[in-house]
Amino acid sequence: MQVPIEVRDLEVCIRSRRSVVHALQGISLEVGEKQVVGFIGPNGAGKTTTVHVLLGFTEATSGSAKLFGEDVRHSIARRRIGYLPELPQTYNFLTGRELLHMAGRLFDMKGAVLKDRAAELLELVSMTYAADRKIATYSRGMMQRIGLAQALVNDPDLVILDEPTGGLDPLGRLDVRNIIATLRERGKTVFFSSHELSEVERVCDQVIILVAGQIVAKGPVAELVPAGESLEQFFIDSVRKMQNREVGV
Ligand SMILES: Nc1ncnc2c1ncn2[C@@H]1O[C@H](COP(=O)(O)OP(=O)(O)OP(=O)(O)O)[C@@H](O)[C@H]1O
Ligand SMILES: [Mg+2]
Repeated sequence: MQVPIEVRDLEVCIRSRRSVVHALQGISLEVGEKQVVGFIGPNGAGKTTTVHVLLGFTEATSGSAKLFGEDVRHSIARRRIGYLPELPQTYNFLTGRELLHMAGRLFDMKGAVLKDRAAELLELVSMTYAADRKIATYSRGMMQRIGLAQALVNDPDLVILDEPTGGLDPLGRLDVRNIIATLRERGKTVFFSSHELSEVERVCDQVIILVAGQIVAKGPVAELVPAGESLEQFFIDSVRKMQNREVGV
C-alpha cells in the first residue's frame, strides 16, 4: 500500500540576507489512506511551509517528504493531488467556469466530461449562481470556494487544503465540512490546515499540532484530548507548554 503522505525528519531553514528562520525543526508525520487529518498550530508554526514542501514549492534543508511513495521532488507524485493554497489567486479575467475548464485541460480533460465536471464542482461549492461572472468580481469567500472547486477538478486521491475555511462565512464553513465528509465517503485522503478548531474536531480522524516548527501532539482527537475537554483547550495548553519550555519557565 502506498502511503499518501510520509514526512521524515523534515527540516526547513529559510535564509534571507539578514536572518535564518528555522521554520521546520525535524518533523515526522504520516497520513494514511482515506484519513482526514487536521494540521493545526499558531500563526507562523510552519503549516504552510510543510504544505509547500509537499507541493515542491520549497526545498527541504534535510529530511524527506513522499507522496504515495514518491519523493515530492518528482512531479509525477503531484498528479494525484488537489491543492488549495492559503491565499488562492488566479486569473481575474476568467469567469469561475472558465477557470475550472482551464484547470481541467491541464489534466487532459475535455468535451462533455470536462463541462459536466465543472458544473458538478460549481454545484458542490454553491457557486453555480456566479459561475459566469469574472473572478475579479468575487469576494474573498467566493475566491475560496472557486479555489476549492479547482483543487478537486482532477478527482484527486489526496487533497491538501491550506486553511480551506479562511474567509468563509458560517454557511461556507459548513459547506467545507460537508465537502470534506463527501471526500471521505468517496475514499479520498484529506490533509488540511485550519484555525477553526471546532471544525477540525468534528471532521478529522486525526490531528497534528505544530508549534514553532515542531510537532507537539498527534493522534485521534478522542485519544489526545481528555474527556470533557475541548480540542481548543487542549490546543491552547499545548501551545503554552511549548512556549514556556522555549523561554525556560
Ligand atoms: N519567504 C519567507 N522568508 C522568511 N521567513 C519565512 C518565509 N516564509 C515563511 N517564513 C517563516 O517561516 C515560519 C513558518 O511560516 P508558515 O507560513 O509556514 O506558518 P503557518 O503555520 O502557515 O502560519 P499561519 O497560520 O499564519 O498561516 C514563520 O516564522 C515565517 O515567518
Ligand atoms: Mg499558513
